[in-house]
Amino acid sequence: MTTLARPALRPLAVADAGRVLELTRATGVFRDEEIAVADEVLAAALAARVSASSITEELPYYILGAELDHQLVGWICWGRTPCTQDTWDLYWLAVDPAAQGHGVGTALIEGMEQELAGARLVTINTSGRDDYEPTRRFYQSRGYPAVAVVADYYAPGDDLVIHVKRLGR
Ligand SMILES: CC(C)(COP(=O)(O)OP(=O)(O)OC[C@H]1O[C@@H](n2cnc3c(N)ncnc32)[C@H](O)[C@@H]1OP(=O)(O)O)[C@@H](O)C(=O)NCCC(=O)NCCS
Repeated sequence: MTTLARPALRPLAVADAGRVLELTRATGVFRDEEIAVADEVLAAALAARVSASSITEELPYYILGAELDHQLVGWICWGRTPCTQDTWDLYWLAVDPAAQGHGVGTALIEGMEQELAGARLVTINTSGRDDYEPTRRFYQSRGYPAVAVVADYYAPGDDLVIHVKRLGR
């Protein structure tokens, strides 16, 4: 993608679900069962927003999409971590490979942080696999250092790496 356009954030709608899953799959880092979970989480997030009784009602998942040149190229999903005091989890972040390196991932993280103004901690669980190395660097340079590793968590040789950022509070 040879564009210099700035990413534009927008809410996601039911009609976006197919494209969101397509771009998530296209990243090539998620296994089929992870894509199935992304599908479930996305459906739950969309349904929760539709059935919310007010805009201030707290939802299990929050989602945002990002466009470059009017094309949906990325999405992010986060939610409150149960049984914590104002700790939040970044559950999903994916940018279409054709649009990576143009600031979309950064814009999505910033969009989430803006929505979480006043929150305390954001944690991200990611993989220690070699193909996630650019992802881990991305989180590190956006202020989310890796603070813990659980060896062989996802599978033998596939560690859990936990990244954390302290927000304003
Ligand atoms: C990680 C990811 C969300 C970053 O999105 P992005 O839109 O490429 O990120 P930006 O353009 O805002 O920032 C680029 C930065 O990320 C790094 N980066 C990571 N993957 C990259 C890629 N494939 N192409 C270019 N830059 C990449 C660059 O080093 C750059 O860092 P710098 O600005 O400090 O030099 C995206 O690469 C992606 O979807 N990866 C696969 C899915 C994934 O790993 N999701 C997270 C699961 S926990």
